[in-house]
Amino acid sequence: MSSPLFEKILNRTAKIGVVGLGYVGLPLAVLQAKTGFQVYGIDEAQQKVDLVNQGKNYISDVDDGELHDVIQKKLLSATSDFGALKECDIVLICVPTPLTPNKEPDVRAIVKVTEHLATHIHPDTLVVLESTTYPGTTEEIIHQGLSACGLTAGKDVFIAFSPERVDPGNASFKTHNTFKLVGGITPPCLEVAKTFYEQSIVKIFPVSSTQVAEMAKVFENVFRSVNIALVNELTLLCDRMGINAYEVIDAAATKNFGFMPFYPGPGVGGHCIPLDPYYLAWKSKEYDLHTRFIELAGEINENMPYFVVSKLQRILNTRKHCLNGATILVLGVTYKADIEDPRESPATKVMELLQQEGAHLIYADPFTPTLTLNGTQYESQELTASLLRACDCALILTAHSVFDYDVIIQNASLVFDTRNGTRQVQGMKENVWLLS
Ligand SMILES: NC(=O)c1ccc[n+]([C@@H]2O[C@H](COP(=O)([O-])OP(=O)(O)OC[C@H]3O[C@@H](n4cnc5c(N)ncnc54)[C@H](O)[C@@H]3O)[C@@H](O)[C@H]2O)c1
Repeated sequence: MSSPLFEKILNRTAKIGVVGLGYVGLPLAVLQAKTGFQVYGIDEAQQKVDLVNQGKNYISDVDDGELHDVIQKKLLSATSDFGALKECDIVLICVPTPLTPNKEPDVRAIVKVTEHLATHIHPDTLVVLESTTYPGTTEEIIHQGLSACGLTAGKDVFIAFSPERVDPGNASFKTHNTFKLVGGITPPCLEVAKTFYEQSIVKIFPVSSTQVAEMAKVFENVFRSVNIALVNELTLLCDRMGINAYEVIDAAATKNFGFMPFYPGPGVGGHCIPLDPYYLAWKSKEYDLHTRFIELAGEINENMPYFVVSKLQRILNTRKHCLNGATILVLGVTYKADIEDPRESPATKVMELLQQEGAHLIYADPFTPTLTLNGTQYESQELTASLLRACDCALILTAHSVFDYDVIIQNASLVFDTRNGTRQVQGMKENVWLLS
């Protein structure tokens, strides 16, 4: 198959548009610019556009120096004007895919970008959706949207789905060395997309359709959600039975095949695990099927903040204290350790429940300077021995590696560690409570 686009990809003269400059889009835009392509970052948030153009980084997985370098070399520039799509030979869509309040997919951003594409793209353009979504989205929204304006997939336009699998804060796997799945609407679409990603990403796995790639990505997240729910449920049982769940998991993990450890926590967070499984659950209903594992896992994981609060009440009871009026020092509020992303963090839910119970809340999180809960603004405190001594319980919700767990245990009268962050501390830990 011959298309001038192949030549442009191989000699790096193809111009790339990355739509959505968030946790997924900005690292991808920087990677493509580093690879030598001219990249236009397009985002409706003017503030992000301005920051990118000033070379100011706001995503921890992006290296400040690399962003500055590609901006200085004019390989990357950002805009909120979708007219920039006219310049692009390749468009990578990295917009958010949230849920409605009723947990139904909200794909309005993908629809909006498709409408802009229909107005602006020129023939011989590759369009790839990277956002996580239900199987069928690329076909139903992007392919049908572009067909309606007379573009034929595999001939005038190449359309593919290639899910972003980035794990924020992962020091080993970044955008360039995380293996990539690609599915095309037609075989030529797949071929162009595969050739493009081979220029910058270490290993590409082509699959037979966009639906397979979409399903594989959402299945990866369902797999995590279900396994986390399983270990959370086991932890609830261990708590009742007086068994340490972490010791159980470590013991099971000694099996040298067939077991993969997952760990319990105060709930699941981030843009992926709490949301993506519901995309599949919603789609499955169109096929008269109820994906019960997904719903059940969601139910168990969403119950964990309630379990944390009720166990905290039990812990305070051991000192004849009640939660109402107790000073609770929350340690860590982001959804996972060592990153600044607060989205869907279970800490927010736990803190709201504690507020409702009348607890006096303070928190420390070097990644989150301020936090607003139900209209009350909190400021992160410096984690000092005196702060720890002043609280009735230190509640670890995110085990950042910068926390000094020795100091926490030595100074707080009670520590409720929902992440097993204190495991590294040797010696007596009589004041430390785990989930079980
Ligand atoms: N964050 C992750 O860890 C992760 C990992 C893998 C996949 N994903 C998926 O990637 C997608 C993007 O996630 P993210 O974490 O980068 O989101 P994000 O919220 O960090 O970034 C999305 C960006 O898109 C912009 N935007 C929103 N609507 C737009 C529109 N109509 N046109 C142009 N720009 C628009 C927003 O201003 C924002 O800057 C989601 O589908 C998500 O599920 C996320």
